[in-house]
Amino acid sequence: MPVPVIRHATPDDEDGLGRLDRRTWSTTHAVSPAPCRPYEPFFSHRSGPRDHLVAELDGRLVGYIRLGFPTELASNAHVRQIRGLAVAEEARGSGVGRALLRAAVEETRRQGARRITLRVLGHNTPARKLYESEGFVVEGVQPEEFHLDGAYVDDVFMGRFL
Ligand SMILES: CC(C)(COP(=O)(O)OP(=O)(O)OC[C@H]1O[C@@H](n2cnc3c(N)ncnc32)[C@H](O)[C@@H]1OP(=O)(O)O)[C@@H](O)C(=O)NCCC(=O)NCCS
Repeated sequence: MPVPVIRHATPDDEDGLGRLDRRTWSTTHAVSPAPCRPYEPFFSHRSGPRDHLVAELDGRLVGYIRLGFPTELASNAHVRQIRGLAVAEEARGSGVGRALLRAAVEETRRQGARRITLRVLGHNTPARKLYESEGFVVEGVQPEEFHLDGAYVDDVFMGRFL
């Protein structure tokens, strides 16, 4: 099985990441409406290329993970948050998500952070299993926080020390 190559994103990844993000949109993980034209840029002033790690398989962009700060407060600066993770459907189940998550943990350690946190929808079993298997634990649940496809869905807070 090919091993994914993980690297920091560059400005040239804008189009590829935008396409990947739109192709993978689903209410399994997304709480905002399905993307429609004109599309929002993938990178923003708050979240640029250096905040993203991308995965390539045989030179093809197949996934990304987005890192950021939970808040802008200095008192909160020792924590990083995973603010997005997606793997192209055709590349799932071959270790790309795990490679991205491990690289993100390494990157946040390198930055000197103490904890890493994330939010995941209660019904997103693949992502929850992945996070649990990499040492993340449930730290809180906001019950029925979202209404998606006619059903109420919990917002699950997970985290781990680095
Ligand atoms: C969640 C996601 C990133 C996983 O990516 P992936 O490349 O398929 O994951 P991996 O192949 O690295 O699998 C790692 C682990 O995740 C879990 N997992 C992955 N797919 C799963 C599935 N369909 N059902 C249950 N567990 C699953 C397993 O624990 C797996 O370990 P194993 O292979 O030893 O059983 C991918 O399904 C995805 O992009 N989903 C849509 C976006 C999303 O949900 N993002 C998370 C937002 S919080």
